[in-house]
Amino acid sequence: MAGNGANAGLTRGATLDFISHSPEQTRRLGWRLGQHARAGDLFLLSGTFGAGKTALTQGLAAGLGVADRVTSPSFALVNEHDGHDAEGASLRLYHIDLYRLETEAEVASVGLEDMLDDPAGICAIEWPDRLGERVAREHLLIMLAPVSETKRRLAFLPRGARPGELLAAIRAEAFGVGS
Ligand SMILES: Nc1ncnc2c1ncn2[C@@H]1O[C@H](COP(=O)(O)OP(=O)(O)OP(=O)(O)O)[C@@H](O)[C@H]1O
Ligand SMILES: [Mg+2]
Repeated sequence: MAGNGANAGLTRGATLDFISHSPEQTRRLGWRLGQHARAGDLFLLSGTFGAGKTALTQGLAAGLGVADRVTSPSFALVNEHDGHDAEGASLRLYHIDLYRLETEAEVASVGLEDMLDDPAGICAIEWPDRLGERVAREHLLIMLAPVSETKRRLAFLPRGARPGELLAAIRAEAFGVGS
């Protein structure tokens, strides 16, 4: 599970818990993330089938001005989308789904490092538990869990200074409370 071992040195900032009552609400939250995201940000989306990882990424993409239809990369493993940050600087969203990968060698073959190192890249990774201990860099871990047919619990866990700042901005904007 991302969040152990290799991540032990990363600052654990204040978390945020949220109940989404609809796919639209989940997408709206993702949109806010996209509005505040910048190059280098990494989002790890953890949660069971149908928890809303792709729905959240659709919102994230919309917040980054991505014009493409964002669909599950389950078979492609990685979908790339062109977008931009709030200042208009070009960005590339790498939407990655590791579900089908079983071994370390398979994960290594995806070329994740290049995407993570893209200076204009933002990565959103579904099924990050497949990474094992590999994520040693800062990230915002988002754990999604179905509560009912239309309700999802979202837990935002920042790992590192920048993800903490990003989450503080979202909290202040969405809930009107200071960081
Ligand atoms: N509050 C909600 N937030 C997000 N999705 C919801 C919500 N309520 C119902 N849903 C439904 O749950 C499903 C979420 O699907 P999505 O593809 O985003 O899940 P996923 O976590 O990416 O699953 P997978 O592991 O299969 O990729 C959609 O059919 C969506 O309409
Ligand atoms: Mg998905």
